[in-house]
Amino acid sequence: MDVFVIRGGTPLSGTFTVNGSKNAALPLMAASLLTDEPLTLQDVPELADTRNMRKLLAELGVESETGDDSTRFSSDPTGPCHARYDIVRTMRASVCVLGPLLARRGEARISMPGGCALGERPIDLHLRGLRALGAEIDLESGDIIARAPAGRLRGATLFLGGQFGSTVLGTANVMSAACLAEGRTIIESAACEPEIVDLAKLLTAMGARIEGAGSPRITIEGVERLGGTTHRVIPDRIEAGTAVCAAAVVPDSEVRIVNYPADALMAFADRAAEAGIDIDITDGTDPMRTKCVVRRRGLLKPVTVTTQPHPGYPTDLQAQLMATLCLAEGHSVVTERIFPERFMHVPELGRMGASISRQGPTAVITGVKNLVGAPVMASDLRASACLVIAGLAAKGETTVNRVYHLDRGYQTLEARLLAMGADIERRDDKTAPVKIGAA
Ligand code: UD1
Repeated sequence: MDVFVIRGGTPLSGTFTVNGSKNAALPLMAASLLTDEPLTLQDVPELADTRNMRKLLAELGVESETGDDSTRFSSDPTGPCHARYDIVRTMRASVCVLGPLLARRGEARISMPGGCALGERPIDLHLRGLRALGAEIDLESGDIIARAPAGRLRGATLFLGGQFGSTVLGTANVMSAACLAEGRTIIESAACEPEIVDLAKLLTAMGARIEGAGSPRITIEGVERLGGTTHRVIPDRIEAGTAVCAAAVVPDSEVRIVNYPADALMAFADRAAEAGIDIDITDGTDPMRTKCVVRRRGLLKPVTVTTQPHPGYPTDLQAQLMATLCLAEGHSVVTERIFPERFMHVPELGRMGASISRQGPTAVITGVKNLVGAPVMASDLRASACLVIAGLAAKGETTVNRVYHLDRGYQTLEARLLAMGADIERRDDKTAPVKIGAA
């Protein structure tokens, strides 16, 4: 198993180019099931999760062929409809094949995803939405078995909010399925995330009729069939925010970010500015693909942050900002409203000298002068990024174990940090150095 060894304290300087978004790419790839024509996606990041999605799609009769910067998907509508536990357990996002399968093939069998390091993660809202479209859904041997009576779903008006607000992949599933349903669907309390807007753009280019994506009410007029198209995935806002936190954590760093999706990161930029981090947009022609320069103004300032559904502060950038706030001058308060148990990084930061006390969904961080290097354990994707950021700032050597979590969402992160001057290397846990960039 690979680990990262980081010797902290080196300022970062250079250019960081943001890759295509993992969370946008996964439902876009699943949308290939909705059409019998080839679908080409550009800028799909090369990650464990996208590889797993290609594997799952292959089991469902979707061939994929990867070229220089694009992947072409061709679905056989008579292919199997069963997403097996072996794959679903490696990637919860496998659930986003449910809506497309049901809509195009009239049936789907998907292993029920379990919980994960973020806590219990139910899919009741996905099922509620699909049932509202007429799907008959049963649970058998740990699998969800869904059927569209007479082979086609029916449009409906439905409410998709839950106790934590909207659901991103639930909205993706119901919106994708409604495109081929008979009649009009209105999704109320839809997720407003940029990844949903990107999916609506793709579906519209395939012939779907969708209005309101990016707002809490999405209206879809069902069509008989969808065709193929070519689409470029939006840049990854979480990777971009991670790069900003990395640039801010070591004094005297200056990092230029290319493909910075400023339009999708307003809440993050607001908190970063308050913390004393300057993000100067130098080219804002396309607000989803700007160029910017990141520097921090003197000492970091403490801030109050609450995670919320978009356009609020994203839960996927909670851990990374917390690593940075460990070095702010005073008390910061971080409240997690999406996944109240998402604090597995807190004890690990404590092993590096951070002072954090947690009560329920809130953590109070008292800034310290220095973090100190230590062996730490990554527990999930964004927690791993948080520990890498802490390691970049810490005095001495930090070993981040289980970086396979990080490899799910960041393509060759260590190589890109190394290119900006960070002292970081990937090794296997038997300490043999491995080639930088191998993921
Ligand atoms: C997506 C992202 C994930 C991000 C999360 C929240 C992908 C592949 N993953 O996950 O990185 O952290 O959005 O921004 O895009 N919930 C229910 N019932 C449901 C579904 C969700 O109660 O049926 C709850 C969840 O437990 C959570 C909240 O709703 O508390 C939001 O979850 P959701 O938006 O569905 O997360 P995902 O789409 O799975």
